[in-house]
Amino acid sequence: MEEKIQSIRNRAVSACRNVTNIQELQEVRVEFLGKKGELTALLRGMGQLSAKERPKVGQLVNELRNELEEVFRLREGVISQSAQAVKLAAETIDISLPGRKSAPGTYHPLTLALQEIKSVFISMGYQVVEGPEIETDYYNFEALNVPPDHPARDMQDTFYLSEQLLLRSQTSPVQIRTMEQQPAPVRIIAPGRVYRSDADVTHSPMFHQVEGLLVDRGITFADLKGTLQLFAEKMFGEGTQTRFRPSYFPFTEPSAEVDVSCIICRGSGCRVCSQTGWLEILGSGMVDPRVLTKVGYDPDQVSGFAFGMGIDRIAMLKYGISDIRLLFENDLRFLQQF
Ligand code: PHE
Repeated sequence: MEEKIQSIRNRAVSACRNVTNIQELQEVRVEFLGKKGELTALLRGMGQLSAKERPKVGQLVNELRNELEEVFRLREGVISQSAQAVKLAAETIDISLPGRKSAPGTYHPLTLALQEIKSVFISMGYQVVEGPEIETDYYNFEALNVPPDHPARDMQDTFYLSEQLLLRSQTSPVQIRTMEQQPAPVRIIAPGRVYRSDADVTHSPMFHQVEGLLVDRGITFADLKGTLQLFAEKMFGEGTQTRFRPSYFPFTEPSAEVDVSCIICRGSGCRVCSQTGWLEILGSGMVDPRVLTKVGYDPDQVSGFAFGMGIDRIAMLKYGISDIRLLFENDLRFLQQF
């Protein structure tokens, strides 16, 4: 009998050592300690023992039961502890790993150029205004001194939506809209998209301009020159020179095209300035008295100047971009350089 008890003990202990999870352990426990388990069977068989043996065996069985219960309890502790350890190990965070960087966006070169242009003129007291991209023939041409069938229309090959509606070919109509709405003095810049039927390496059917307009008492061409000289220096760096060449625009008189000393070679001549040392950056002039009269201003009381520049061209010069199409293709390899 004692041998039998010893054998149960040995088998139970080794079975217990071999289990690796709580469920298996439970099965082993039932096998030995359960209602139909080996120990219970042993107790049931005690009736066949002699009265002398019975208490002794009973004591041994009880001791074994207590011992096994303790063994199972300890094993259960070990198993659940190692399960916990496994879980923790799997969830470990390696705080020494470098973090995943989220790539921040970058400003589009046109946005950068416009931000700079704006900040120069805002510092000179200009307000930023906007106008519609779909314009009437009146604002885009007639009010700017270009009557129907006038040859000056050929200067800008325009997209017409109907007889009277078109995609604006310049930001100059914003001059008219602004003056119609307020009396002098006026001091505005008007950035925005413009459209012309034109496409090659340096021309895009959609591009960007900034219009400038200043009207007040006693404004002269000297004010225009001083303003644009200051702009050129702030935009392209100290020492940048300007050159005013006589030109023609229907709504300014006199008119001038303005060049800056080449920002690449500083005037000595290079590929970008075609060896001339100069870069053309904008058109300008004194607002034609006929334009002032049309919006209800008195040209004997006030005078003003206007200018218009291409943002795309300025961005291309500033950032050394040789093909205007790069600005609109949304190629990240290009855009992320800014
Ligand atoms: N709107 C003219 C153009 O697009 C530029 C300009 C603006 C000229 C204002 C003079 C004054 O060609």
